[in-house]
Amino acid sequence: MAHVTDYIRTIPDFPHEGIMFRDVTTLFADRDGLRLAIEGLVTACEGLEIDTVAGLEARGFILGGALADRLGTGFVPIRKKGKLPGKTIEQAYSLEYGEAVVEIHDDALHAGQKVLLVDDLLATGGTAEAGIRLIERLGAEVTACAFVIDLRELGGRKRLEGLGQRVEALCA
Ligand code: PRP
Ligand code: ADE
Repeated sequence: MAHVTDYIRTIPDFPHEGIMFRDVTTLFADRDGLRLAIEGLVTACEGLEIDTVAGLEARGFILGGALADRLGTGFVPIRKKGKLPGKTIEQAYSLEYGEAVVEIHDDALHAGQKVLLVDDLLATGGTAEAGIRLIERLGAEVTACAFVIDLRELGGRKRLEGLGQRVEALCA
């Protein structure tokens, strides 16, 4: 039986020398691959209390939008700084190959709302932690963080679990 890893390719030295970049465009481009990823994430979230899905730019939008539709929720984007038109709050972070700032609209979530945070890949966990902080600063709660890929050796899972988060991933 096919597995999501069959559809993911690794591109060396992108975006910097020494980074082995896991490219999910080939997973998303294949209808069976995309279906496997979405079904896998839906299954991983079964039984969880989820009021809405938040996705991390950019590949978390593709997964998060499909997942929100399947779970019957809305979708909230967490974007790189300067892209959201309304009033935002922001959070700086470091990731495997750099530093950035992400933002969320300050009225995108309300207190007590239970949020599924979605991205394609967990590496150091810097990006996901920034997303969690934004969600929590709006008074909402993260029910789980869901990824297609968990690059275990980079420690993201331990970092998020250390924050008390539930982490779901389809492959390493
Ligand atoms: C990638 C990936 C995650 C993040 C993971 O995004 O999609 O969001 O890196 O790395 P971390 O666990 O070390 O934080 P990237 O920053 O390349 O942004 P993009 O999706 O906008 O290209
Ligand atoms: N984000 C951080 N590290 C990554 C990697 N190795 N491949 C794809 N996205 C990433």
